[in-house]
Amino acid sequence: MEKYTENYTSSIKEKELFWKEQSQHIAWFKEPGKILTQNEKGFYRWFADGELNTCYLCLDVHVKNGFGNQVAVYYDSPALNSKRAYTYAELLSLVEKFAGALSSKGVQKGDRVIIYMPMVIETIIAMLACARLGAIHSVVFGGFAPQELATRIDDAQPKIIITASHGIEFEKIISYKPLLDKALELATFQPSATILLQREKLQCELNNKNEFDFYTLLQNAKPHPCVSVKGSDPLYILYTSGTTGKPKGVVRDNGGHAVALRYSMEYVYDAKQGEIFWAASDVGWVVGHSYIVYAPLIQRCTTILYEGKPIKTPDAGAFWRIISEYQVNTFFTAPTAIRAIKKEDNEGVFFKQYNLSCLKRLFLAGERCDPPTFDWIKTLLQKPVIDHWWQTESGWPMLGITTKIDTSTAKRGSAGKPIAGYDVVILSEEGKKLNANEEGLVAIQLPLAPGCLLTLWNNDEGFQQSYLDQLKGYYLTGDGGLKDDENYFFIMGRIDDVINVSGHRLSTGQMEEIVASHTGVAECAVVGIADKLKGQVPIGFIVLKNSFKGNTNLIEGELANLVREKIGAIACFKNVLIVNRLPKTRSGKILRKIMRHIADGTTFQTPATIDDPLILEEIKTELSNAKIGLAFE
Ligand code: COA
Ligand code: AMP
Repeated sequence: MEKYTENYTSSIKEKELFWKEQSQHIAWFKEPGKILTQNEKGFYRWFADGELNTCYLCLDVHVKNGFGNQVAVYYDSPALNSKRAYTYAELLSLVEKFAGALSSKGVQKGDRVIIYMPMVIETIIAMLACARLGAIHSVVFGGFAPQELATRIDDAQPKIIITASHGIEFEKIISYKPLLDKALELATFQPSATILLQREKLQCELNNKNEFDFYTLLQNAKPHPCVSVKGSDPLYILYTSGTTGKPKGVVRDNGGHAVALRYSMEYVYDAKQGEIFWAASDVGWVVGHSYIVYAPLIQRCTTILYEGKPIKTPDAGAFWRIISEYQVNTFFTAPTAIRAIKKEDNEGVFFKQYNLSCLKRLFLAGERCDPPTFDWIKTLLQKPVIDHWWQTESGWPMLGITTKIDTSTAKRGSAGKPIAGYDVVILSEEGKKLNANEEGLVAIQLPLAPGCLLTLWNNDEGFQQSYLDQLKGYYLTGDGGLKDDENYFFIMGRIDDVINVSGHRLSTGQMEEIVASHTGVAECAVVGIADKLKGQVPIGFIVLKNSFKGNTNLIEGELANLVREKIGAIACFKNVLIVNRLPKTRSGKILRKIMRHIADGTTFQTPATIDDPLILEEIKTELSNAKIGLAFE
């Protein structure tokens, strides 16, 4: 049997034995006696009775083993013209003191801490300090608006919120403190303290007795030792978009997470101890959690914290500069970033200025890598390019090429083959397994692999309903796709109201709720349509109330501002089309998918249940007149 099949099959058929062996690669305080168990609700748990500390695995163990002088993190901020290397010993010293600082403010095992920060070393320090105390961090992406932050504050009920005086987007300084103040005004729950990092471009006043300066606290704190936690104790909550306005609080454990991430570094990324690993994402997303922070540090790689963009910081050679300057061996980014580079430097003029002989492979995820982008980057790099598929809920790849053991190459358009522990299947709506090349729902046969979500924060019922109830014995991923005769899977996109804009996961359902709240809107549908750069962008189709007396020329701007204010600029909600009516089935269900097909110019079948087929022509004409959608640009 070929090596991949052997490894994969044993991960499914002898799962406990397989993961027990993998668990032996990490330094437990107490090794797990039980490998796989179910809790009282029937949810699976990996290594529940083991004891460990994730911060210990990321830092202490490496320093103890004599690697204190190895660089743990290179921080590079082109906008601030600032660079710095942090060794494992330095990072440990900062983290143990910041853990002491948090402890002095009352943070204990199980308490939640919200981290609303840009891409700075203090974000990693804060995350690891929480892990050290057994506290549960919840990092909120800096691009979210106060309302989104407030929702997370009310749900997670953090004892402390940590923020910074500013972030930086290209040249734009984003002041975080007013955003946090506004979020606290909107939230019902109030934390007992706020800790603020003062940054050089903008300082803010700490005028409340519950506001503390990050470094003053750190410098006055006593180092705190690692607190032992159970394998199934939560390490973090990460909120992600679902189909409604309320985000889902994905809960990650300590034990399964550490074992799975270490496994992935060896088998998926083939990243060895001491190598340089760079995931060009943001710590506010799951890719940042797993592959900027936890996995590279657990594997004793050097990770890169890049506070910049693929382009304009200062040019489209930004990524290639980082790779050659820090001798990056493994690089991970989103297709949207590659498309942005391609747009500015199609001929690879910037690319040719750098020597990238250090680079072994490029990994892509966050959205499907369209074949033209795949071909372009592969030709440019002349290295293996691997698209791999995962989601916030899994925390690490479910499909990909296990580069260490699988010699087959990636296929363009495919996200690869199932990774160990994931029994990935394509099902019909009724739960029947479909044949090769038949498109259906992408599901995982339970149990999920170690490292996947435990549940949703304070919402076991939501977890059960969103993922498990529809087809018994399976976890539904929310994606649609197919597999070919050679077991390569093709993920074709979400089948729910979730879209991916620049690799950022957003809910069109949530946008619809916001658009519908405008006094002039009678009815609306928000749909994600294809975009050359961002993968997808949202567009709102609205029907105005007869009684609407406002200026129709202004409504697009008003709605765009409303979404920006409630979700944030990252929603990229800019296009609104006023229509006379929306296409619906006879039972009143809005045919969003069809509107998407019309805008994208892709083929579709008009459903027999459509109320009035003529309306599709109207929508087509409106889109064409407004030049919205790839089909009409
Ligand atoms: N804080 C505040 N605002 C933010 C933000 C943050 N962290 N991130 C993005 N925004 C804002 C941007 O400033 C922009 O605002 P604007 O409308 O006022 O200009 C808006 O959100 C949209 O941002 P984005 O979608 O990133 O578009 P862009 O034109 O600024 O940049 C790219 C385009 C392709 C360069 C950028 O999207 C990119 O780097 N993409 C890769 C992202 C990635 O790696 N995603 C995968 C995560 S796993
Ligand atoms: P997130 O939870 O933000 O990581 O988004 C997860 C979603 O992004 C998945 O459910 C997919 O819809 C999409 N996605 C991520 N990676 C890929 C990929 N390699 N191919 C296709 N879709 C992807």
